[in-house]
Amino acid sequence: MIDFSGKIVLVTGGGVGIGRATAEAFGKAGAKLAVIEKRQDRADDVRQALEGAGVEAMVVVGDVTDSATVARLAEDIDARFGGLDVLVNNVGDFLMIAKRFWDMTDDEIERLYAVNLRHIFSVTRAMIPLLRKKGAGSSIVSVSSIEGFRAIPNGAVYAAFKAGVTGFTKSLAVELAPEGIRVNLIAPETTDTPQVAIWKMIAPEHREHIKSWIPMGRFGEPEDMAGGILFLASSLAGWITGTSLHIDGGALAAGGWYRDVNGTWTNVPVITGNGMNF
Ligand SMILES: NC(=O)c1ccc[n+]([C@@H]2O[C@H](COP(=O)([O-])OP(=O)(O)OC[C@H]3O[C@@H](n4cnc5c(N)ncnc54)[C@H](O)[C@@H]3O)[C@@H](O)[C@H]2O)c1
Repeated sequence: MIDFSGKIVLVTGGGVGIGRATAEAFGKAGAKLAVIEKRQDRADDVRQALEGAGVEAMVVVGDVTDSATVARLAEDIDARFGGLDVLVNNVGDFLMIAKRFWDMTDDEIERLYAVNLRHIFSVTRAMIPLLRKKGAGSSIVSVSSIEGFRAIPNGAVYAAFKAGVTGFTKSLAVELAPEGIRVNLIAPETTDTPQVAIWKMIAPEHREHIKSWIPMGRFGEPEDMAGGILFLASSLAGWITGTSLHIDGGALAAGGWYRDVNGTWTNVPVITGNGMNF
């Protein structure tokens, strides 16, 4: 029932991780892809994968935090495809900045803003005329984080910008609803990607506990996120707008609850340290 045949989809940061899985999933569902990716090697790789799978794809090497690049991207998509059906605002990064709020510098705050929220404004604004060309049924899906809905100590600024995506999504959804253009977001829990390389981050002695940290017993895979994005962009979600889809294996529902080594539910700590290698 999820069929994007003939539809045009833009995925930002589509070289690896959640963006890559999303681009490939849309391709499998029949869409034509536009991908922007700042790293040449990753752009080459996704171009090869999409073309190898028989998917028509325009892969651009560029940085979505640069406004001239974004303007050019909109022109190029319009010239090649004559509009846009789905915009996936996937780029986001905690930039390996993990520190207490009072130690954050202005420069770090600006960099976190640029890569987690500002480009969502500029890319979305540039793409709205292209979405309007396709009209009712087109949609925007942004990738926020479960940490926009839950605390992340040592990540207060990142969390604030991710929470900002929710406010933007709701208000823009209302502004565009009369035109039939929907605006939603997904909020992933920890997902195994190059940015969040779980197997490197979690110390070997703690790995056996992974199955008990998240109610559904594992961390996310990029394909879990792609599934939610395709659903929200599809006609199955035709009356869903302004909404956040938590894709988290039950983590947000669990709050502080998890299973100890004996499988007993608890909300008190039974291990020391944070279980991470950093
Ligand atoms: N992986 C997780 O655990 C997790 C959890 C919550 C939210 N998220 C969010 O999911 C999204 C994707 O995360 P991921 O883990 O797949 O990331 P990733 O870093 O593994 O992949 C992101 C891709 O985007 C590219 N990119 C980064 N900045 C760019 C820019 N300015 N312009 C163009 N391309 C750029 C990178 O080169 C990379 O190929 C992000 O918004 C992230 O905040 C991820």
